[in-house]
Amino acid sequence: MRNLTLELDSLERTDFAARQMAPYLFQGSILLFWGEMGSGKTTFAKSLCAGLGVHPEKVTSPTYTLVNIYQAHCPVFHVDLYRLTAPEQLHDLDREDLIADQGITMVEWPELLQDYLTDEPALNLRFTTVSENQRLLVLETESSEFDILFNTMEQQISFDQLSDNSLSGNSA
Ligand SMILES: Nc1ncnc2c1ncn2[C@@H]1O[C@H](COP(=O)(O)OP(=O)(O)OP(=O)(O)O)[C@@H](O)[C@H]1O
Ligand SMILES: [Mg+2]
Repeated sequence: MRNLTLELDSLERTDFAARQMAPYLFQGSILLFWGEMGSGKTTFAKSLCAGLGVHPEKVTSPTYTLVNIYQAHCPVFHVDLYRLTAPEQLHDLDREDLIADQGITMVEWPELLQDYLTDEPALNLRFTTVSENQRLLVLETESSEFDILFNTMEQQISFDQLSDNSLSGNSA
């Protein structure tokens, strides 16, 4: 298990962190966005998509559509399961409606998705609201396929601490 905590002290910092992470996502990766309403899941997804080359205006919250599909260098599935209340509601959907095996999948409110997941490389992103403009993001994975992503984010944090600018975070 590997984890890393990022202090997202402003919208700009959130945008920067997500865009920095985007190049290290790969086809078949599944990102699970955990956290209460307003904790920044869609905001982060939007900047990740921007980093993948999707125009930010195309990225909207899929709360009502369940799944939005964007085209980057590969398909990006943006899923939001907030409106589902029971796992059975997922059974009307095929796995390929929700998970892009040939693309990148981002899932907000992923609690009910667990049954669909087996041994895919999954990255957990756990968002917490600290104050109106501050969020805490804990990245967590059991998959070594995200090693380069973690190494890069850790290096950036060390660099930020050395240069003592405000883009700080802590490696855990
Ligand atoms: N540092 C920050 N990082 C991310 N969002 C922030 C930050 N500071 C303020 N915000 C604001 O918090 C809100 C986060 O809303 P967002 O829709 O991204 O949350 P969400 O987790 O997707 O909620 P929901 O569960 O309803 O889908 C936005 O209005 C955003 O502008
Ligand atoms: Mg959202």
